[in-house]
Amino acid sequence: MTESIPVRIFPDRTEASRTLALELAALIRTINESGRPAVLGLATGRTPLPFYGELIRLHREGQLSFAKVITFNLDEYLGLPGNHPESYRAFMRRELFDHVDIPAENLNIPDGMVPPEALEAHCAAYEELIRAAGGIDFQLLGIGRTGHIGFNEPGSPRGSRTRKVELDPITRQDAAPAFGGLENVPEYAISMGCGTILEARRIALLAWGAAKADIVKEALTGPVTDQVSASFLQEHQDATFYLDAEAGSKL
Ligand code: PGA
Repeated sequence: MTESIPVRIFPDRTEASRTLALELAALIRTINESGRPAVLGLATGRTPLPFYGELIRLHREGQLSFAKVITFNLDEYLGLPGNHPESYRAFMRRELFDHVDIPAENLNIPDGMVPPEALEAHCAAYEELIRAAGGIDFQLLGIGRTGHIGFNEPGSPRGSRTRKVELDPITRQDAAPAFGGLENVPEYAISMGCGTILEARRIALLAWGAAKADIVKEALTGPVTDQVSASFLQEHQDATFYLDAEAGSKL
């Protein structure tokens, strides 16, 4: 049986991001006080930018330390070196890691330059690192117009794990401006699977703007199907959608 996913709709993305940042800061503190590091699953794209801005602000104000935080990013483009500005490794440094006190050895992002013959072992090792860290306490997600979470495009099985994935044409189109043209957008990525993501103990999905309103509605109220990987969140015990008014306008 599926439960409905709690939805929180805010006037704008700043307020939504501020609320979630305060919640995450409290969660990190609670976990750290229990004597262990907090394990975060992180996302890239335009959506998390205001949220990362709020985390940095809390850190600068002395309200949040990342000294005992371990992170795992959802995905990375295949074929992009870590110093390519559109690689997710570069994105994370620019938008969050360079501005907080997180130890470099605590950051985990799939390696987009892993050679084909080592790819399967690299993906298995990523899963093992997550397990060895004790699993993900808090997973941040955006949602693509294909309904993807991570790069789990339509057809990604419920039980899928970290693996090589082919990007949907819509996803590549959405990335084209940042890459200066569709021809520059990678065709493949490494992504945590739906199964990997669903094992996180708490999940927050963020969506902003009218362009996301239809897919947000489908994920929340449509059938649970591998055609919309975000719909699997309907079967998660502790997932919440944080929306601005526009993304929530079709609900
Ligand atoms: P966006 O991408 O944040 O750039 O809209 C979201 C996603 O594809 O998950």
